[in-house]
Amino acid sequence: MCGIFGMIGKNAVGNTLTALKLLEYRGYDSAGIAAKRNGHIDVYKTEGRIAALAKIVQGAEETDMAIGHTRWATHGAVCTQNAHPFLSRDGRFAIVHNGIIENYKQLKQTLPSVDFGSQTDSETVAHLLAREYRGDALQAVLTVARLLKGSFAIAIVCVETRTIYAVKNKSPLVVGLSESGAYLCSDVRCISRFAQRVAVAPDNTVVELSAREAKFYDFFGKEKETDFFTADRFDEAENAEGDFMLKEIFEIPEKLLCALDGYKQSDGLQLGRFTVNALKRIYLIGCGTAYNSGLQAAAVARKWLDLDVLPVIASEFLYDNYPVDDNTLAFLISQSGETADTVRAAERVRERGGKTYAVTNTRSSSLTFVCEHTVNIFAGSEYAVASTKAYNCQLEVLTLLLADIAFARGVLSQSRRSELLDELAALPDAVQGILDDCSSLARVAEQIKNCSAVFYIGRTADYPIACEGSLKLKEISYIHSEAYPAGELKHGTLALMEPTVAVVAISTQSELADKTASSVIEVASRGAKVIAVSPRLFDNALSVKLPRLSPETSGIVSVVPLQLLAYYTAKSLGRDVDKPRHLAKSVTVE
Ligand code: AGP
Ligand code: GLU
Repeated sequence: MCGIFGMIGKNAVGNTLTALKLLEYRGYDSAGIAAKRNGHIDVYKTEGRIAALAKIVQGAEETDMAIGHTRWATHGAVCTQNAHPFLSRDGRFAIVHNGIIENYKQLKQTLPSVDFGSQTDSETVAHLLAREYRGDALQAVLTVARLLKGSFAIAIVCVETRTIYAVKNKSPLVVGLSESGAYLCSDVRCISRFAQRVAVAPDNTVVELSAREAKFYDFFGKEKETDFFTADRFDEAENAEGDFMLKEIFEIPEKLLCALDGYKQSDGLQLGRFTVNALKRIYLIGCGTAYNSGLQAAAVARKWLDLDVLPVIASEFLYDNYPVDDNTLAFLISQSGETADTVRAAERVRERGGKTYAVTNTRSSSLTFVCEHTVNIFAGSEYAVASTKAYNCQLEVLTLLLADIAFARGVLSQSRRSELLDELAALPDAVQGILDDCSSLARVAEQIKNCSAVFYIGRTADYPIACEGSLKLKEISYIHSEAYPAGELKHGTLALMEPTVAVVAISTQSELADKTASSVIEVASRGAKVIAVSPRLFDNALSVKLPRLSPETSGIVSVVPLQLLAYYTAKSLGRDVDKPRHLAKSVTVE
């Protein structure tokens, strides 16, 4: 899930460092830069973050050609030795790689005399290039490209040429050109900082980048046409003070309005009446938080829709036999639009004739090129690894899309649809009320921060909220946590209840509140601490008060105290909330 960058132009080292900072969300266990200078390549690399790399390159002589990398290790421990770039033994080539070379063991065996300096799959590529070089760098790159299996976006510099090469299959790669230079990068957001004319390299492509132009080839050297487009500028927040996660939670009211307005001003549901009426099933596919928003949206849609609405984890969708035909619609949900599992799932739906609809926060991301339709969630850039405001906006937009499908199929009335729009318009105030009282969540966090485990429970539409609350807590506080439908606890997990355990019970539906009250008593009488997140009060539990909202919209709001609870718990434990251990913002390997 690394980030790669390469450029030809002034201050290449300084600019590569700036770019790596923007790409740090993709991985942050180690980083490095290779700079080409007068017939040789210098490599700077270190374990740790870009700030550590910045110290190493401080004062380094500038140059006009460099490639850089920020790593999230897949093969080989996190250490300087395994950090990219890798030099070929003859010093002729340096490479950085995002992805996995699946056949690297076989390829290594073809290099018996090479003494490898790292445990990575990636280093193999540098040595293969040196072996295949016969005086023409492009030919060597093409030959090596044909040998590789797996997912890769590789940037290559060669001491002999004024060119940066790239090889791309399944890992993202964009190319940008501007007056100031030529660029290669893992994402549009970062490259748009340097160049507005950008192209997304298709799979199985070799790129030859010189100061003024980019050429695209298939792996046999046949030139490919690739369209350039003008990239939007993205808002930059790398200098924001404090934690991005808290800042992003506090943006939820404003972003919910943007999502609602954005949807109203767009074409709305981009599917014709005939398509909608013929639909047999709808999949909501995503990973992690994006999946949880699909889980919640499905619970909402089940209240209206007269067809199957099935949430599926993208990596499961890929290897199971979910039926797809031309009356299948899949919403592919992804904040980044770059998650490999989700992009692959979109490809799978298309191959089988289904309709694909990207629900994303990132314009021109890989997912938008695979799907037939795209809807923007307008959450604005999200930098914290733990996704927050994107969840609320995804859920809002999915609610609108599913309501429009129900309306088009005649199972949701015009008046209920109008009421729903009014209810959604009122949500920012409801969220603001919770944010204004955030100190109460900081106090609850003190009650759970030393727990050995925290279980989140909820029934029906509250269960997805439990899943999201639990995911948030575990990923940033490292406290063991699981989510259950409340009635399921007694079928085994009750055995774990004791005073070091906390249970967070979410209850937004008045008709189910008595059932939840029983679950609360069951766990409390076994010694667990209970926190009830609900519009009503429960005996035996600390209360986190929610406003009373309609069942279709309450999930967008009731998740907010759980986001805050995770934040304050992690903060109180001294965790790095924005960059939790072992994770990355965008998971671009399967
Ligand atoms: C959320 O807090 C996570 N870090 C993670 O589960 C994330 O939601 C998931 O990887 C999907 O990302 P995407 O929305 O960019 O596809
Ligand atoms: N496989 C390479 C490594 O472990 C790149 C990792 C990645 O892109 O996630 O260094």
